[in-house]
Amino acid sequence: MENLMDKMQEAAMYITSRIGNEPVAIGMILGSGLGGLADELEDAVAISYKDIPFFPVSTVFGHKGRLVVGMLEGKRVMCMQGRFHYYEGYGMDQVVFPIQVMHALGIEQLLVTNAAGGVNTSYQPGDLMLITDHIKLIADSPMRGPNYEELGERFFDMTSAYNKELSALARLEAERLGLSLQEGTYMYFAGPSYETPAEIRAARALGADAVGMSTVPEAIAASHMRMKVLGISCITNMAAGILDQPLNHKEVMETGDRVKEAFTTLVRSVTQHWPV
Ligand code: HPA
Repeated sequence: MENLMDKMQEAAMYITSRIGNEPVAIGMILGSGLGGLADELEDAVAISYKDIPFFPVSTVFGHKGRLVVGMLEGKRVMCMQGRFHYYEGYGMDQVVFPIQVMHALGIEQLLVTNAAGGVNTSYQPGDLMLITDHIKLIADSPMRGPNYEELGERFFDMTSAYNKELSALARLEAERLGLSLQEGTYMYFAGPSYETPAEIRAARALGADAVGMSTVPEAIAASHMRMKVLGISCITNMAAGILDQPLNHKEVMETGDRVKEAFTTLVRSVTQHWPV
């Protein structure tokens, strides 16, 4: 089967056969550290990626590979517990396929979370950051190739890729909870190497506040389909060259673990007040 629309439909039909016709209000991509939230959904149905037609399968340590659909704070949500990364070898089109399937299921709003390196030197590991914009300078795009007019326009707007109302809601809820929430620009690097100190200086000069290896392809695909996106990063480490120490995945996972509770609390109250 070659046609993207057909693949989306087939995947969506399979998922519907497992979860029923009740609409899902919010799609959620849970990054490192936040995956546990999917285990807290009520009346949950979990679907392994390997069972979904045309879904790629997640390979990264620390990520489960499944969709979990259920109730969170009174809203029906669909969580991706584990996501697909370009550095794993998937094409950008594969990375964003789940978002397109969410769209086929009628989901119009997306929460995207990730672990990121802090570029802004006023940040500290453990900070949460509202993503207000992004920078992607690598040539590849999930929308490269034939355009499916049924999904969106060939040349589509990215001015409000990160929705202003949802961002305001996240600010409000963070304040209400007494959690500090940084905000800034997330710059995409393909990985899997962490960046060099020179790349981080360049990122800072370009206006980046954080760097990471996910989220941007998904946000682009969501914008293409005019879905509303809220993005939140967990700053798990200071980016390369800022501190006099090497970067490692263990630190990323440990900080993610430490911040999990605050992050979960914020996501829960944002979900509770999310306009649907
Ligand atoms: N760089 C890229 N991706 C990341 C980082 C980083 O420093 N930390 C967590 N994900």
